Amino acid sequence: MSASPRELLRGMRVAPSILSADFGRLHEQVGEVLQAGARVIHVDVMDGHFVPPITVGPLIVAGLAEQVRQAGAMIDVHLMIERPERQVAEFVRAGAHSVTFHAEATPHLAYAADLIRGDGACVGVAINPATPAAALGEIASALDLALCMTVNPGWAGQAFIEHSIEKIARVRAIVGDGVAVEVDGGIEPDTAARSQRAGANVFVAGSAIFDAPQPGEAYREIARAVGAE
Ligand code: DX5
Ligand code: ZN
Repeated sequence: MSASPRELLRGMRVAPSILSADFGRLHEQVGEVLQAGARVIHVDVMDGHFVPPITVGPLIVAGLAEQVRQAGAMIDVHLMIERPERQVAEFVRAGAHSVTFHAEATPHLAYAADLIRGDGACVGVAINPATPAAALGEIASALDLALCMTVNPGWAGQAFIEHSIEKIARVRAIVGDGVAVEVDGGIEPDTAARSQRAGANVFVAGSAIFDAPQPGEAYREIARAVGAE
């Protein structure tokens, strides 16, 4: 039997972000990273308000659900949208195994977390680079995942913000060992390894994987750097 999403999030995981994939051949590209060993597929949802770009919604999650499930993997949805509590149910229904929303995007963190948990998915809260790690303190016991943004959200291909390293350690100290600490933005083998030493265990990588000539090989390079399965 394959591992549950909660079990998957406990390990060292590199999570390819489809934001940088070629959407004209999305199944093929996702297939390449699944084949290379990826078990967490990261889907970036942007609404044109919380962040300027607009990307994808539940239809893309639904379109990937079967392929990802068959590989024993999970879909990790990262909502960069305002008032996420209005949308989370739709994403879980579409097949999201974890739903992460931003602490800056709603005054109702606990309520949104309850909705996601009630629908049966893993709960994540993300914080932007300028948001203190302490923003996670009161919600930590309700989380499966804490996402520490290592670039400003909205675009792939940005440089890793170096002072994130100390912040990752603060996030790990706040959430404890039972919660996954995910990093997102500017992740390649070197920044992944340094984030890992600071306490991260889930490493989202978009351009480093899908802009490479061989996404499967690029995935494996980052996975090797952090000892991911
Ligand atoms: C950016 C998204 C990221 C993005 C990362 O706001 O949340 O998941 O895909 O892209 P890279 O890995 O290229 O920095
Ligand atoms: Zn993301």
